This record gives sequence, structure tokens and C-alpha cells, in this order.
Amino acid sequence: MAKRLDEEGVDGLVLFNRFYQPDINLDSLEVRPNVILSTPQALRLPMRWIAILHGRIKADLAATSGVHTSHDVVKMLMVGANVTMLCSALLRHGIDYTRAIEEDLRRWMTEHEYESVRQMQGSMSQKNSSNPTEFERAQYMRALHSYKRETI
Ligand SMILES: Cc1cc2nc3c(=O)[nH]c(=O)nc-3n(C[C@H](O)[C@H](O)[C@H](O)COP(=O)(O)O)c2cc1C
Repeated sequence: MAKRLDEEGVDGLVLFNRFYQPDINLDSLEVRPNVILSTPQALRLPMRWIAILHGRIKADLAATSGVHTSHDVVKMLMVGANVTMLCSALLRHGIDYTRAIEEDLRRWMTEHEYESVRQMQGSMSQKNSSNPTEFERAQYMRALHSYKRETI
């Protein structure tokens, strides 16, 4: 679908907006709107797909879902996002949190000797990866082998 939209000439794609997910109240048997803010785990879905699409389509890629920290921003840029978006994190921490993220991002880049965002962009995409199969479903099997039951 991303390829088809790209061929039609869209300038950018946002991956992925979170769907509206109402809940059911079992006492009143009513469907209730219920906003649930995202967790950092939500990052994985857009991260994987941006990694796969980077360098394969012309459209810019915007990352949304689960971007909560400057590290999340770095990851998204590295897999190939042109821009990252925050919603839940700003609802939790307030609008000034964008400044904290930017300061952390600058600090991280200095510590890791990156001079520009462009330098990072796409460096970890599937196309540029030394091990491109890491982004593919076959890795599920390997991931399951490395799974350890969490101890409380
Ligand atoms: C309270 C709230 C309202 C939202 N309203 C819209 C909306 O009107 N249109 C839309 O496309 N996405 C809307 N979203 C989805 C966000 O744009 C975003 O894709 C989603 O929250 C995932 O990002 P996050 O993990 O940073 O929250 C809304 C999200 C929240 C939490």
C-alpha cells in the first residue's frame, strides 16, 4: 500500500496513527470512549515498517506511536524517519517536554559524535543494515528462543 501511495505521488506517510479504541462497560453494557495513552512498546510497529520502507519509496516518513524519549527519536531517525511525532508523552508531561527531548537529543548526538540528524537518518534501515533479515518475520523464531520468563 505504501508503494502504491508513493507511485500516486504522495509526499509523505505517517506510520502509524493509533486507532480509536473504545471500551465496554460491563455494568451499564455501554460502549465507552476511553483514551489510553501509548506505552513505549508501541514504538516497535512503526519502527519496523519505517526501517523496511526507508530508501524504497520517495515519500517522506513520519513516525508516530510510542515516541516518548530522545532515545526513541534517535531510533526512529536511524531507521529512516524524516520526522518523529509525540502525542501521549506531551499529554503526560506537558508541552515543555518537547524542549527536554530536544536537549537530550542534542546531548546524545554530541556524546556519540553525530554532527547532524541527516548523518543518523536511515543508518539502521533494513536497506543499510548489515543484517537485513533482523526486520523480517522469520526472526520471530529466534526471538522466541531468546525469550526468558520475567521474574518478579
Ligand atoms: C487524546 C488523543 C487524541 C487524538 N486525536 C487524533 C485525531 O484527531 N486525529 C488523528 O489522526 N490522530 C489522533 N490521535 C492519534 C495521535 O495523533 C497519535 O497517532 C497516537 O496518539 C500515537 O502517538 P503517541 O504514542 O505519541 O500517542 C489522538 C491521540 C490521542 C491520545
